[in-house]
This record gives sequence, C-alpha cells and structure tokens, in this order.
Amino acid sequence: MKTSERKNPDVAPDNFRFVSLGEGGDVDFDEVIVGLQQTPKSVSPKFLYDARGSELFNAICTTEAYYPTRTERGIYESQAAAIAAEVGPEATIIEFGPGDMSKIRLLLEQLRPQQYIGVDVSAAQLEDAGPVLAADFPWLEVLAICGDFGPSRVLEQYLPNDAKRVAFFPGSTIGNFDPDFAQQFLKGLRDMLGTNGAAIVGVDLQKPAAVLETAYNDPQGYTRAFNLNLLTRLNRELGADFDERRFRHKAYYNEQLGRVEMHLVSVIEQQVRIGGQTVRFQPGETIHTENSWKYTRDGFAQLALNADLRVLRFFTDEHSWFGVFVLAVE
Ligand code: SAH
Ligand code: AVI
Repeated sequence: MKTSERKNPDVAPDNFRFVSLGEGGDVDFDEVIVGLQQTPKSVSPKFLYDARGSELFNAICTTEAYYPTRTERGIYESQAAAIAAEVGPEATIIEFGPGDMSKIRLLLEQLRPQQYIGVDVSAAQLEDAGPVLAADFPWLEVLAICGDFGPSRVLEQYLPNDAKRVAFFPGSTIGNFDPDFAQQFLKGLRDMLGTNGAAIVGVDLQKPAAVLETAYNDPQGYTRAFNLNLLTRLNRELGADFDERRFRHKAYYNEQLGRVEMHLVSVIEQQVRIGGQTVRFQPGETIHTENSWKYTRDGFAQLALNADLRVLRFFTDEHSWFGVFVLAVE
C-alpha cells in the first residue's frame, strides 16, 4: 500500500492542525435511503471511503491495471517545475480529496507554498497522512479539514486573505461528478480562489474501452472489494442487513456517455432492511455506486471556461491518457 512510508509521529508536529466540519465522513442515513428508493437505485461515491474503503482505494492505485495513478504521478514528477512556474511561490494550496496526500508531495519542493489545506471525508486518512506530511515538510503549515468538499463556502473561514489561493484537485476525482455538477463546482471554486487564483486539476482522458474496463476490474480484485465494502459499511453504520454474497461488482465503460459506471448487481430477488425501511431488489437490479467521467482535452477546457477558468497550461503523458490542467481565474 502506498500510504506514507514514514511512521505517524507520536506527537503531532506544531505545524499540523486538524479540524472537523461536523458531519465529516459519517454516512447520512436520509441521503442513502433516498438514493436506494429511487429508480435506478444509487448511493453517492463519497460513501466508498470509510477507513477500509480508503485502504482499498490505495491498493487499487498500486495495480498495473489502474493506470491513472502512475500516469498522473509521472506528469507531476516530470513537470513540477513547469507547474510551479505558472503558480508561483508562497501560495495557500487547497487540495480536494487528498487521500493519503502522496501526490502533493511531488510538487511541494517546487511549489514552495506557505500553507497546505487538505479537505477530505476520510478522517482516517487525514489523521494518518497529515502529521507525517507536516513532519516531512517542517516549513509548511498543514491544515487537515474533515468534511464534504462540495459546499466550498464552508472552507472560506479557513483561508487566509493575504496569500494567492491555488486549488489542487488530482486523481480525476472531478470525474466522479456529473459534468453539470463539475461545472457548478468549478464556478464555486473560482469564486473561492478570487481574482489572482489558480487551480491544478488532474483529469482522466477518453481512451479505448478495454484499457478502461481493465482499470475498473483489476485482476487482484481490489476494485471489486472497494465497491462491495460499501455494503459492509452500510451494515455497520446504518444497521442494514445486506448480504455481500448476494451482490456482485460490475464496472463497464458507457462509451456513449463517456463514463465508466460502477454498480453493485443484485444476483437474486431479495429485500434488505435498512433503518426500519425495506428496499426490494429484482434479480439483476443494480445500485449505481460511481460514475467516472472521461473527458477530451477540449471538452474539459470548455467546461472550465464555462466556469470562467482559463487553461494556462496542459500537461499529458506519452499516450495522452491523463491530463493535468493548470487553470487561471479569468
Ligand atoms: N487524491 C488522491 C485520492 C483520490 S480518491 C489520489 O489522487 O490518489 C478520492 C478522495 O476524495 C478520497 O480520499 C475520498 O475520501 C475523497 N472524497 C470523495 N468524495 C468526497 C467529498 N464529497 N468530500 C470530501 N472528500 C471526498
Ligand atoms: C477517486 N476516483 C477518481 C476513482 C475513479 O477512478 O473514479 C475512484 C475509483 N473507483 C474505482 N476505482 C477507483
């Protein structure tokens, strides 16, 4: 697993702070029930990341099949100086969904920001990775915020007014939003960043279906376990009685829409109890657990422009599989 190589220090360093926005990583019962009562059934992908889910996601990232991680890391490793030249030093970096905080490490020496803020629903990851990052980069103020990064206004109170604000949104987590929401999110981001702000956004690009389908069906079975772990979590946290053996993992590229869809398929007719409610499944009926939209370079640039963010630089890899966009507020 690629979680921090160094052991979590026993005492958090002085340059590390942790705050929780309250609802944080807890599963919102009402939100889950509403999704399960709809046709088709769905649950937000943000609920995939309890401590075990985060561990499984990190395992997915180590596989040969899941190309996005190593491809994006390769871009940061080779282009850190060029990215830093666009952004400039002394900024406040705000990372959305940092997970194990391993990607920002590839940029910090070149970016030389004054403060780093990571916002994630996964408390376990922030608590593990945050103090280690602060210990490894003693010149950096590290603030870990546990909560949903959706309503970006909530973050405002933690942002200093005197530094340039730079958003870092790697991993193509933006691809887990539907494009309309992605555009709305970017608009909120632009407002938060202010006139001299910038953003570094990692976006997975369209490619042959076979490559995509292997990435979401890795031979080690980590993606399958990651998806099914959602049911284990709902059983534990909401007292549901899902039987994981009665569901199977399904992930495929919906080429027409340009997104990989991840589902949990009910293998039989069954009913599940969840917090006093009954949810019925037909054989083959699915819970839609994630979309992973794949963009073209121009398609994402246009989406950003619609949110008044202009592409300053675009970086990609030798296969044009992954894109890193450096955006400026228009
Ligand atoms: N940036 C890392 C991790 C990506 S996984 C990488 O590129 O490898 C997605 C991360 O976003 C997870 O750590 C997950 O906990 C977090 N996340 C997903 N939805 C979220 C939401 N709505 N609010 C805050 N964090 C979220
Ligand atoms: C975090 N996110 C961009 C990943 C993705 O590829 O959509 C999550 C993931 N789902 C299955 N594998 C990885």
